[in-house]
Amino acid sequence: MTFDTPISRAGSHCVKWDMLEPLYGLKPDEGLAMWVADMEFKPPQVVQDALQKMLDHGVYGYFGDDTAYLDAIRWWMSNRHGWEVQPDWIFTTHGLVNGTALCVHSYTQPGDAVILMTPVYHAFARIIKAAGREVTECPLTLQDGLAQIDTADWEKRLTGREKMLILCSPHNPGGRVWTTDELRAVADFCVKHDLILVSDEIHHDLVYPGQKHTVMALAAPQIADRLVIMTATTKTFNIAGAHIGNVIIADPALRKTFANTMNAMGISPNSFGMHMATAAYSPEGAAWVDALMRYLDGNRQVFDDGVNAIPGLRSTRLEATYLAWVDFSGTGMAQGEFIDRVQKTAKIATNHGASFGTGGETFLRFNLACPRAQVVDAVARLERAFADLQ
Ligand SMILES: Cc1ncc(COP(=O)(O)O)c(C=O)c1O
Repeated sequence: MTFDTPISRAGSHCVKWDMLEPLYGLKPDEGLAMWVADMEFKPPQVVQDALQKMLDHGVYGYFGDDTAYLDAIRWWMSNRHGWEVQPDWIFTTHGLVNGTALCVHSYTQPGDAVILMTPVYHAFARIIKAAGREVTECPLTLQDGLAQIDTADWEKRLTGREKMLILCSPHNPGGRVWTTDELRAVADFCVKHDLILVSDEIHHDLVYPGQKHTVMALAAPQIADRLVIMTATTKTFNIAGAHIGNVIIADPALRKTFANTMNAMGISPNSFGMHMATAAYSPEGAAWVDALMRYLDGNRQVFDDGVNAIPGLRSTRLEATYLAWVDFSGTGMAQGEFIDRVQKTAKIATNHGASFGTGGETFLRFNLACPRAQVVDAVARLERAFADLQ
């Protein structure tokens, strides 16, 4: 289990490295791809073995009998998150962007609005707008650089058309692990304004030592009749290409509506994803995640120490996720200038903060799920690119 070994991904049809040149003008051998949220690591051996077994068998027909898969999810949620899930609560979607879209179509109508706590994962706004719904932005506030929830401020932003709130827990970007009190404040807000709460918990396993993720269903059991929880193996085990996610719904009425949308869209399981996810949710998978988080903790430390020593740059202290969130406002530079320095001078591809909505404008997001040497290289490139500020 070594995360230090570099693995070249160029030419493997991965978006992160093979779209580097078309989108950022950087060749893979000169640039650092630190944008898309997947990791530079192989998944645990138990996942590789499951795929190998499929290859050895060699017949790739439709998937059937999800008993082992459902058992694996229930085991993982119980063991890692203290949450007891019933098998009939679980829907399998083609990932959680797909899961979010299915929720938007299930529980809102064209012209309705969906609340996003910005800055937040950019795909949410994209799919809401593409579905003919509106986004109501309820920005997070910052306290000592950490995102905070201010529901009193949110009240002033409502248009009356809101039917749903999408929570990102832990939060991407910025890596906040919401406390039970914060989760309850969001739940109360949803009750007060009669909103469906979709809690996207895809980053729930990627929590640093000393932090504890709380499943929304445990923080606010009283809102089960308006709650949808989404989880996945893909972020945790670096198998996002398998396009598989869990949408977990305890309430029978919400479940029926969701099942209808699934049927209407013709969604059925991807066999590769089912086999990989079943293998991942295992004691071997759990040991791998523990080792991964120790490694990422080291990366986070190296990155923060280096970046925070550059005048004007501030790296947010991540509580979860491997997605560093760096504020460039202290440089006094316009957005175009700090982006140019990072992209053209340092040759690092990042996600631009503005794409995450209001509040992200002065930030860039750097993916730290790579061998430590790449993090060290990135810090050195940033030091050189902003050397005139020293
Ligand atoms: C909050 C959040 N939800 C969903 C996704 C993507 O999910 P999927 O690959 O399952 O569609 C991401 C990817 O970064 C994410 O950060």
